[in-house]
Amino acid sequence: MPSAARRPLIIGSGIAGLYVALRARELGLRPTLVTKSRLEESATRYAQGGIAAAIGPDDSPARHLDDTLRAGAGLVDRAAARQLTSDAPARIADLVRYGVPFDTVDGQIALGREGAHSTARILHAGGDATGLQIEEALKRRALDAGVDARERTVLRALRPDGKDGVVAVLSHADGGESEVMDERPVVLATGGAGSLYRQSSNPSISTGEGVAIAFRAGALVSDMEFIQFHPTAFYREGAPHFLITEAMRGEGAVLRNDAGERFLVGQHRDAELAPRDVVARAIDREIHRSGHPCVYLDATAIPRDRLFARFPSITTFLAAYGLDPSRDPIPVTPVAHYMVGGVTTDLEGRTTLRHLYACGEAAATGVHGANRLASNSLLEGLVFGEHVARQLVHPVPRAPPDPGRVVEIPLRPGAGRSDPPPEVEAVPDLLWEEVGIVRTADGLRDALSGFEAILRELEPARSDELAGPEANAALTAAFIARSALARTESRGAHYRSDWPKSRTEWVKHIGLRLESKPRARP
Ligand code: SIN
Repeated sequence: MPSAARRPLIIGSGIAGLYVALRARELGLRPTLVTKSRLEESATRYAQGGIAAAIGPDDSPARHLDDTLRAGAGLVDRAAARQLTSDAPARIADLVRYGVPFDTVDGQIALGREGAHSTARILHAGGDATGLQIEEALKRRALDAGVDARERTVLRALRPDGKDGVVAVLSHADGGESEVMDERPVVLATGGAGSLYRQSSNPSISTGEGVAIAFRAGALVSDMEFIQFHPTAFYREGAPHFLITEAMRGEGAVLRNDAGERFLVGQHRDAELAPRDVVARAIDREIHRSGHPCVYLDATAIPRDRLFARFPSITTFLAAYGLDPSRDPIPVTPVAHYMVGGVTTDLEGRTTLRHLYACGEAAATGVHGANRLASNSLLEGLVFGEHVARQLVHPVPRAPPDPGRVVEIPLRPGAGRSDPPPEVEAVPDLLWEEVGIVRTADGLRDALSGFEAILRELEPARSDELAGPEANAALTAAFIARSALARTESRGAHYRSDWPKSRTEWVKHIGLRLESKPRARP
């Protein structure tokens, strides 16, 4: 076993990071796992609905593959999706072995239904606490197995290691001196960027930093225009956007506008169980049409006992706001939920930089195409995490294929608009309003020039200085806006009202790479 592979550094403690660390340990390595908050804090913890796998008697990986391809709107990498769906049952068996208490009916794992799945194939645990149960089980097993875990430790940069790989520069979350770690390889499992948006289901730590840092180090990043919006998060002025799982619609809840009408009927044959982008856009339209700030999820047709047993976290959350969903409609709004793009990898999690791997939401494998199928994200963390863990033991260097189109972008954009730059605090509003569910060229240009102006202010002047979290946030926001502006069509989660149809010339991915010859500073 090559010595470089003995002490991998894994960054992030959601399902992907914990699973890679645990499997690497089981395979004989001595992984270190660092995470910027507490070990159990990650987007995984808040995943409610579940994890998809073809384990039902009438189901098959081929059927799961078909649904994944359909949801991805023509842009899914078929080999990646085949790997996802065919490895799924084995990865579920791993979770059972690690002690994840999946809910059962008559001794069999219970399977729920979610949007755009042709059959019931969503496993859940603790009713609507699937992510929490998985996170806790993996954390326990990883610590028991001897994974060296460090909390409140932040990735600040990836630097060349003087050979042909990278090393991570870390610091304590409270600041202080940064430290160069010699652990190699580095696995990025840093999650998504949803919390950069004003309305998001993600925890505040989901800021896309890993992607920005990998890009700065020279890694290719792709598919950043595809930000998935979840149709139903709790709406009340000042309250958190608590997710109201799609599984509730799978159980029979329906959406109504403020006049009590089911507005999705007639818009899509699957009505409330249409793909997420269709439902999110329909709600967004309804909110704009009515001027009412939300729509309502009506779960009153679900028997009360079933509703409370199946969705204990949601019903407890709603009770704190005086709502009983067996009686009261639930006010909901769409929110930014999942970053389809990320650091470009192949099926083994290899990025374009040697000794740098990525998996989970931080990676762009092409598996989700332009739109992720519900409950395929926890699964992605496991399936691609397993391939990364095996690469850590037996590395086979090879760069992932380039996407169809690569745009080179500078870190410090040249002079743009002359009016005063927006404050970095404007990023969430700019993203939500101009780079949100419905986009236009004018809005995207405006947002991009705002993000670039912020970058001109915040980007370190010298390449050896560390960029701060605000600069990384503005850079990630710029990736999303720039890619969305380039994609002159609508596809999956990316919708442009000025280009409302898909176009065959856009059956390709957009990659972003650091400008190789930096321009002279203005
Ligand atoms: C949900 O429970 O609705 C979210 C599941 C997912 O994002 O796949």
